Amino acid sequence: MKKKVALIFGVTGQDGAYLSKFLLKKRYKVFGVKRRSSIINTQRIDDIYKDINVRSDFILRYGDLSDSSSIIKLIEETKPNEIYNLAAQSHVNVSFEVPEYSAEINSLGALRILEAIKNLKLEKKVKFYQAGTSEMFGKTKEKFQSEKTPFYPASPYGVSKCFAHWITINYREAYNIFACNGILFNHESPIRGETFVTKKIIQGLVRIKKGHQKKLFLGNLYSKRDWGHARDYVEIMWKMLQQKKPNDYVIGTGKTFMIKEFVNKSAKKIGFKIKWIGKGINEKAIDIENGKVLVECKKRYFRPVEVNYLKANAKKAKKLLNWSPKTSIDKLIDEMIQHELENLS
Ligand code: NAP
Ligand code: GDD
Repeated sequence: MKKKVALIFGVTGQDGAYLSKFLLKKRYKVFGVKRRSSIINTQRIDDIYKDINVRSDFILRYGDLSDSSSIIKLIEETKPNEIYNLAAQSHVNVSFEVPEYSAEINSLGALRILEAIKNLKLEKKVKFYQAGTSEMFGKTKEKFQSEKTPFYPASPYGVSKCFAHWITINYREAYNIFACNGILFNHESPIRGETFVTKKIIQGLVRIKKGHQKKLFLGNLYSKRDWGHARDYVEIMWKMLQQKKPNDYVIGTGKTFMIKEFVNKSAKKIGFKIKWIGKGINEKAIDIENGKVLVECKKRYFRPVEVNYLKANAKKAKKLLNWSPKTSIDKLIDEMIQHELENLS
């Protein structure tokens, strides 16, 4: 039987790596789009080439979401059954520094792929997944956020993703493209980018424990996030595209924790006994055993506007896709700590 073909934009990212491995196990042929960089950026997917059962079905191509011609050429050449748009300038705080670029890639990038599908007349042949985000809910006051919760984005990143969300719906309605939005809440893993807070906390605390770092500097300790595991979340991207009709789904655990609680949980598992002293920017975590400061706050890690509270209502995905998260926050932290310990240089 002919293998299904997937084209993944953002293949070198956290989700791109997990999704590639998931699809290869499902016997897909996977084309991944990487962008040119001055240093090799394929660390997260290099291990695929060690697996002789799948490596011949995994092909990397150069491309960029800012370049329509590369998108059109890639779609024409690879003839995908499914396109996953995971590519983005995905860091919320960085989007305040590069707002125009964030919109260019996150908003217009999605539009460029949809336009290519339409102009190549592939509406009936290609299914499209758009990586939406809980950041679109932003400053919402709703206790749980579902597909019906109005968006109130609080960063250039959040706003740019709202455009991508609505243009995906618009092309679905206007041109009958099988296009789905996943509205995914935060998902982490051992291969999470090092500047996202979970990875930063665990990597920092492990390095301090082993004597490779003195302190960890953080920003707002009081925002709350609904954290799941990326491995569980890529499976649902695929599942959305296997349904009879395209739809949009919220994906999250329905549990939320403060950043400070994440520090407390991680510190305990790594073997620290800590106490918090001070307030605001002067708040610090002290190692009770030796009195040293482990965690301090730094102004540069605070955002101009904060998303204070996110908690998913994923009942629609549970009902229609039979989905629920498999990995608890404790298991996630354990896995991330284990990885840091094994990879400490
Ligand atoms: P990530 O690790 O930051 O990966 C982003 C990917 O996009 C990387 O492969 C990156 O390439 C690529 N990329 C960036 N700019 C590009 C461009 N101009 N052209 C082509 N590719 C480009 O993000 P992630 O955590 O895997 O998230 C995947 C997607 O889901 C993103 O769209 C993100 O916004 C969204 N999302 C993530 C979460 C989460 O909690 N992880 C939650 C909701 C939504 P390089 O490797 O070269 O940088
Ligand atoms: N990155 C970072 N670094 N965040 C910090 C720090 C720090 O030193 N200190 C505190 N925080 C707080 C942030 O202010 C935010 O409230 C929270 O930790 C989580 O920050 P991130 O881990 O950077 O994730 P995010 O929630 O802003 O965005 C991630 O999740 C979104 C889904 O809700 C990204 O993966 C987005 O791409 C994704 O859409």
